Amino acid sequence: MRALVTGGAGFIGSNIVSHLIGEGHTVVVLDNLLSGYRQNLDPFPQVQFVQGDVRDAAVVERATKGVEVVFHLAASVGNKRSIEHPIDDAEINVLGTLRVLEAARRNGIRKVVFSSSAGIFGELKTIPIREDHPVEPDSPYGASKLGAEKLCLAYAKLYPLECVGLRYFNVYGVNQRYDAYGNVIPIFAHLILRGAPITIFGDGEQTRDFVNVRDVVQANYKAAMTRGVSDAFNIASGTRITINQLAALMRVASGLPVQIEYSAPRKGDVRHSLADISAAANAFGYPPTVDLHTGLCEYMAWVK
Ligand SMILES: NC(=O)c1ccc[n+]([C@@H]2O[C@H](COP(=O)([O-])OP(=O)(O)OC[C@H]3O[C@@H](n4cnc5c(N)ncnc54)[C@H](O)[C@@H]3O)[C@@H](O)[C@H]2O)c1
Repeated sequence: MRALVTGGAGFIGSNIVSHLIGEGHTVVVLDNLLSGYRQNLDPFPQVQFVQGDVRDAAVVERATKGVEVVFHLAASVGNKRSIEHPIDDAEINVLGTLRVLEAARRNGIRKVVFSSSAGIFGELKTIPIREDHPVEPDSPYGASKLGAEKLCLAYAKLYPLECVGLRYFNVYGVNQRYDAYGNVIPIFAHLILRGAPITIFGDGEQTRDFVNVRDVVQANYKAAMTRGVSDAFNIASGTRITINQLAALMRVASGLPVQIEYSAPRKGDVRHSLADISAAANAFGYPPTVDLHTGLCEYMAWVK
């Protein structure tokens, strides 16, 4: 098939591109390199790279011509960034998604697989989190992802277009660069390799559900290939660990000593996170297969 990956030069997008190429598909990437890297696509010279913006209707229209499935990842990413640049979230995440949906329906695309986020839930009320957990986002990012996800599902009701929203929890893995916006695993990895202390906010007993990017790729691929499914699904590992346990696992994965400094809890951080992933398993056979130890060893090797 011919597939379009918006945001395909980014962390998760480039992993999806790699899998699609490996499966023999033709891939177009649309990315404005806001937070993506052209070199993520260097191993795939056969990819048609369009440097452009999902806010640009004409560019999106051209990129979707002849495409069967769109993996829509292009976004302004993260809570912290969204508080600094809230207009980007409305323009890129909401209006950009609408541009993709409009082009998709006009060009007879079969399916849009949208990268949503656990950020749509806001403060967590019950654990494990099911898809019907209340959605009360507490950042412009979460609100924009919820709006975009709802637009996708509305288009699936209005038009002969299938749409799936995949609500990722904490994704980590190869091609995830150190960033200023607070992803804990890349930050810990870089500090550990530099021999610098890591900072844990609060007592470190808060829990997170970390999912390896290879599992996120499988979720995207299976959601795309399974016909007749339009809905929103949690994508996570379905297991959780504390941040203290994460630091210990990263010490083992790096083979280096880890110095920990504790500081005050951060405002807005949830205490516990754990997804119920049974809906994705039932709908399209989503199986998380990468355990955290294996995934962290792979990731540390890549960072080195
Ligand atoms: N990493 C996570 O833990 C996580 C969790 C939940 C959801 N997500 C979602 O997954 C998707 C991919 O995230 P990621 O972690 O790979 O981040 P990323 O920043 O590496 O990828 C986003 C990509 O979108 C591109 N982009 C941004 N604005 C654009 C625009 N206007 N036009 C075209 N391209 C644009 C960027 O250049 C980048 O390549 C995003 O939609 C994000 O919201 C990620």
